[in-house]
Amino acid sequence: MHHNRNIILIGFMGTGKTTIGRALADQLKRDFVDMDAELEACAGKPIPRIFAEDGEPEFRRMERNLVAELSRRSNLVIAAGGGVVLDPDNIRDFSATGHVICLKALPDEIIRRVSGSSHRPLLEQGDKGARIRKLLCQRQPLYDAIPCKVDTTGKAPAEILGLVLANISNSKLQFSNKQDNYRK
Ligand code: S3P
Repeated sequence: MHHNRNIILIGFMGTGKTTIGRALADQLKRDFVDMDAELEACAGKPIPRIFAEDGEPEFRRMERNLVAELSRRSNLVIAAGGGVVLDPDNIRDFSATGHVICLKALPDEIIRRVSGSSHRPLLEQGDKGARIRKLLCQRQPLYDAIPCKVDTTGKAPAEILGLVLANISNSKLQFSNKQDNYRK
């Protein structure tokens, strides 16, 4: 049943995936999975240490395995890590079994949102603002390729949650229309 399809929030660091994902799971009474937290629990250490001790390729392998595992489950709300778009297999798996929504925000707002944190190893090399602009620029085509997008710039969590819920019911409608067309 399409009601049980996972809902997956994707997007650059600081676009609100965890905050919105948790609120969404609450509202829909679904289990919430924060991929970064899950990977940290799996590795038994925080993400900066995974990057420092095992390297980014190992982190991406762990992330890839977790996507494959989560895609075999259903009825979840998943907040993905910002780099999940780097491997097209991840997007393929998530889209095959769930509804993928990309959260967006303008660079200045992302910089503001992540300025106080130091748990993102990719932003700890040199000037944070410059790193964000560079990474965003490199990844833009990957985020743009996701059909469902919600812009979070200048919006409070409650408003973003409303937009995400509207996006989901809209896609459910489209999904059931498609199923109806197959049946006809
Ligand atoms: C990353 C984003 C982070 C985390 C890791 C790498 C990325 O997740 O997975 O630091 O490559 O964009 P958040 O988007 O939840 O910060």
